[in-house]
Amino acid sequence: MSSQEIPEDKHLPSEQGDAHHGGVAVADDPFADPGLPVHKPRIQDIDDRAAKRSERTVAMLFTVSMLATIAFIAAYVAIPVDKIVYIFPLGKVSALNFALGLTLGTALFCIGAGAVHWARTLMSDVEVADDRHPIAAPAEVKAKVMSDFAAGAEESAIGRRPLIRNTLLGALAMVPLSGLVLLRDLGPLPEEKLRKTVWAKGKLLINQNTGEPLRPEDVQVGSLTFVQPEGLEEGSHEFLTEIAKAAVMIVRIQPEDIKDKRELEWSHDGIVAYSKICTHVGCPISLYEQQTHHVLCPCHQSTFDLSDGARVIFGPAGHALPQLRIGVNGEGFLEALGDFEEPVGPAFWERG
Ligand code: FES
Repeated sequence: MSSQEIPEDKHLPSEQGDAHHGGVAVADDPFADPGLPVHKPRIQDIDDRAAKRSERTVAMLFTVSMLATIAFIAAYVAIPVDKIVYIFPLGKVSALNFALGLTLGTALFCIGAGAVHWARTLMSDVEVADDRHPIAAPAEVKAKVMSDFAAGAEESAIGRRPLIRNTLLGALAMVPLSGLVLLRDLGPLPEEKLRKTVWAKGKLLINQNTGEPLRPEDVQVGSLTFVQPEGLEEGSHEFLTEIAKAAVMIVRIQPEDIKDKRELEWSHDGIVAYSKICTHVGCPISLYEQQTHHVLCPCHQSTFDLSDGARVIFGPAGHALPQLRIGVNGEGFLEALGDFEEPVGPAFWERG
């Protein structure tokens, strides 16, 4: 808009404006400071009943926000994840997502709407002009800021209107609860899943290469054989989850070479079965040195002595490999006599 199009009463300060705000009354200066408009009191400034009405409206909005947050939590707990409903005009939607979006949106909207209504009707609307000043604030300016802050608090009437203050605090305090309950989606606790494997008493040791159950005579001294529990089907839904814990290696050692008494008791005729999962960070162990009965993890070179309870003799692994107790069933096949007695894999589980 050019200066010619600006009505004279727009770019020339009024008499009151000049008097109160120091505007420059230069009629032919298009950049003259028009000053601030004259303050007109609102209905709430002059009518106490109107102010009360506004207060109740603000409190109602904050209360609706609180109820919406409660509804959000209730919907999250009560509505099944797979429930689908028809909502016009959206069509078929997830009932849970719709309810969560609606309630959280309502809770946030009502806080915003309440704050805006509070500011527009009850807080002071007197406009003030503040001249620019150097960035470094001297002590007296800081003191003025604090007094302005106190005046702002006074003008917001937060101290005199406990109903608004309390409902606002309640709404702000409850909104984060919506985020807290979402933590449930981090998933169920692992409980016993990391401590148990599918090995159980009577499960046959199945050769991973041939898929056949093993007899003691199939295991030669000095050989390393990888086995899995009977009934674990490769390609099944749970195969990878279960084999990650249940993979076992067996070796045959001359019984007189076994130094650990428990290891000897849990073996069958020198055949020992140990978890194949390294106790450092879980790599599969695959290298066997038959002269020393050492097995080596290729990831960080942890070395375990299978003739001495699979204790760690080198590397970063924290503890020995868990041993699986084995025997022979009535048909002459090697079988497990139970699950591992400690968690397999990285050692931090059992220390938690
Ligand atoms: S995972 Fe075996 S040594 Fe690191």
